[in-house]
Amino acid sequence: MLRALLLYFSQARWARRLVTQWGFARRAASRFVAGETLGEALDAIAVLNRRGMHATLDHLGEHVDHAEAARAATQDYLEILERICSSGVRSNASLKLTQLGLALDYELCLGNLRQIVRKASTCGIFVRIDMEDSPTVDRTLAICHELQSEGLANVGVVIQAYLYRSQADVASLAINGTRIRLCKGAYMEPAAVAFPKKSEVDNSYDRLASMLIDAALRHGSEPSSPDGRVPALAAIATHDPKRIDFARQYAERVGLPRPALEFQMLYGIRSDLQQLLADEGYPVRVYVPYGSEWYPYYVRRLAERPANLWWFLKNLVRG
Ligand code: FDA
Repeated sequence: MLRALLLYFSQARWARRLVTQWGFARRAASRFVAGETLGEALDAIAVLNRRGMHATLDHLGEHVDHAEAARAATQDYLEILERICSSGVRSNASLKLTQLGLALDYELCLGNLRQIVRKASTCGIFVRIDMEDSPTVDRTLAICHELQSEGLANVGVVIQAYLYRSQADVASLAINGTRIRLCKGAYMEPAAVAFPKKSEVDNSYDRLASMLIDAALRHGSEPSSPDGRVPALAAIATHDPKRIDFARQYAERVGLPRPALEFQMLYGIRSDLQQLLADEGYPVRVYVPYGSEWYPYYVRRLAERPANLWWFLKNLVRG
């Protein structure tokens, strides 16, 4: 119920207008957001790199409502790639297709992403397309497939364990060795398309993790690249220790070497676990978001964990 309410707030324009006026809310969001500028985000990545971790950089933004904004977001990403290249940080990039105009026009979005992925390929950088709510899944997979069929191998997607369709999607994506990030799923979805119970999502997660690990083995157990720009084929994105243990144990049982099993977590969440896995020899990639469009991202983080919301409300009341 609380999760549903917060996920509603994450998309409500009136709530965004209200909350983003509060300086306190911006400061609270900074726990999960690495700053407002690209320079701040690159500094945060340099710290992670020194601690033995890779990153994926996300310029926050989604659901643009006109083509100019989608083109501006594309230009921003071209600059980001330039800076990742020149600064030498161990990072690739993540983005959302509604930031590039998916809700406005499929072809506009495809053209924008094509420019980004082509530019990234000149520096050996991988681009991850984040997965948004269920009505966007077909078009997201179609765009990824279209670019791959043009010979661009440096693009991959995210699969959400809460969707019933994900097992079929993983089976089909695994055939050509698409790099997949597996997460539980962060949006409000009806029971017609997604498992309503947490235990069902967890079971689905483990099932899909084993499919990804099997696919990684079949495709030669390729490790995450040492320069941090290309992820392993199987990327396990969760902070849930039980899901992480399952994936580790399954990979060990079937013989997937540690460097070929990547773990991914969000900036500001379970840094202790991130470090532990990196110290054990697994590639660990931290999702580093930055920018002024932090509101929906932050509210999704509140929805995931009621304790975050109580902390926010307590400190808001204290002023
Ligand atoms: P779960 O919610 O069960 O949490 C397990 C434990 O992790 C909690 O007990 C707590 O300790 C910790 N934790 C989790 N969330 C926390 C929070 N917000 N604050 C503090 N502690 C927290 N989703 C999506 O729909 N599309 C996408 O493209 C992505 N991309 C993505 C990339 C990466 C790298 C990650 C890690 C996650 C995503 N997600 C995502 C988000 C994902 O779907 C999911 O909502 C969150 O990861 C929370 O779920 P967990 O798997 O961590 O499990």
